[in-house]
Amino acid sequence: MEKSLVLIKPDGVERKLIGEIIAMYEKKGLNITALKMIQPTREIAETHYAEHRDKPFFNELVTYLTRGKVCAMIIEGDNAVKIVRKINGATDPAEAELGTIRGKYALTKAENIVHASDSVESAVREIKLWFPEEAQ
Ligand code: CMP
Repeated sequence: MEKSLVLIKPDGVERKLIGEIIAMYEKKGLNITALKMIQPTREIAETHYAEHRDKPFFNELVTYLTRGKVCAMIIEGDNAVKIVRKINGATDPAEAELGTIRGKYALTKAENIVHASDSVESAVREIKLWFPEEAQ
């Protein structure tokens, strides 16, 4: 079954949105097959966002992801990568449809509540990083 790695970022945890967010994935029919609260180190955040290393907002992004606990999960189901990204909505909350997580709960591109793998290949890499105990 296809897998996606999802993070509810520190703003989502601080705002006590974990339950609402997980309910949206579950009600769609997806399965949460691993779940944990984790305080990210700078090292894990920098590795996770390695592709953004040269972006002007990289430092701000790492500081944001490491400022508190995140809720990390593996979500499985048919087309999980694409469907989770649809449920999350566009990266820019101003563009996100109102029924999506970002459309409902986020206001800025910098603090956009959730992260999800953008491809099956990214999901494999991110699952190894956040759930080394789960990766085959
Ligand atoms: P995410 O889907 O986790 O992938 C990259 C992250 O970078 C994105 O969510 C946002 O949190 C962040 N991001 C994207 N664009 C910007 C921006 N212009 N300024 C600050 N942060 C950004």
